[in-house]
Amino acid sequence: MRRPDDWHVHLRDGAMLAAVVNHTARQFARAIVMPNLAPPVTTVAAARAYRARIEAAVDTALGFTPLMICYLTDHSDPDEIERGFAEGVFTACKLYPAHATTNSAHGVSDIGAISAVLARMERIGMPLLLHGEVTDPTIDIFDREAVFIERVYARIQADFPGLRSVFEHITTVEAVAFVENSGPLVAATITPHHLRINRNAMFDGGIRPHAYCLPVAKRERHRLALRRAAVSGSPKFFLGTDSAPHIIAAKESACGCAGIFNAPFAIESYAATFEEEGAIDRLEGFAAEHGPRFYGLPLNEERIVLERDPIDVPTTIDVGAAGAVVPFHAGERLQWRYAGIASSD
Ligand code: DOR
Ligand code: ZN
Repeated sequence: MRRPDDWHVHLRDGAMLAAVVNHTARQFARAIVMPNLAPPVTTVAAARAYRARIEAAVDTALGFTPLMICYLTDHSDPDEIERGFAEGVFTACKLYPAHATTNSAHGVSDIGAISAVLARMERIGMPLLLHGEVTDPTIDIFDREAVFIERVYARIQADFPGLRSVFEHITTVEAVAFVENSGPLVAATITPHHLRINRNAMFDGGIRPHAYCLPVAKRERHRLALRRAAVSGSPKFFLGTDSAPHIIAAKESACGCAGIFNAPFAIESYAATFEEEGAIDRLEGFAAEHGPRFYGLPLNEERIVLERDPIDVPTTIDVGAAGAVVPFHAGERLQWRYAGIASSD
């Protein structure tokens, strides 16, 4: 199939970046790199510097292009954002509601604070990527995505009807319906894990921190809606792993971090889901065509090989001095194996 891209990934920084980036780069030609570092990537200079650190860490033979994102705060400057977009540094902006997830403390406290930014993005055709969860503590955690649609996304859509946006890592039937019922400017990414686990996975015989991410996995009916959307062939749904590594000690803790590290076996995981749905022929559109078309980027010309040959996922993946990370599918056998980039002759 055509070489895929990852339209949502956390590559981190420093030793963790060096340990994880090639897991993404060996499969994906491009990736949208999330800006939730500490401190977050809020300026053109910070994004250029982070891009250089990624390029220094990646194996250049893999031919990987990181696409950089501007983290929005209440104080984001429309001129800085437009300049970064015009200079080809920023591909999009990311809206994290303040305190919604890892390193989101500097996120947006009220969308009224970024209305000038959103107006500018609408005018210049720059996509907005949304972490779609409200942070109101009175809202049940399993309802935060659906309530975000009513309280925030619908308002953004009404006020900025020409704004291109991606509802990131959707987890609910409500999000699928919202995206389907919106015009062609609204799309969504779907992770490998939300296609495979429901909320029971977090409590399977005991508390399972490696199944915890945000947005949190929901009931089975939501997982089934995501699977239908992913394999539907609709150009509005595309691949975004949300691979989010945390060392074991940070996950297996009294207050464990949110995030599932799925980069090492991402395409194999999606292939398993598409095959189970009888839609392996639709994997290429989801993984390699819908995303670039939405972003207005060329499709990758390279091809990759997936073989029907089982692969055993290790229980941990070493990340050097920092320790180890438990990958998604740890200890499982997957039926499709990524065999690399096809030779061009
Ligand atoms: O599970 C998550 N982990 N969700 C996010 O939104 C952030 C991510 C992270 O950076 O760890
Ligand atoms: Zn994410």
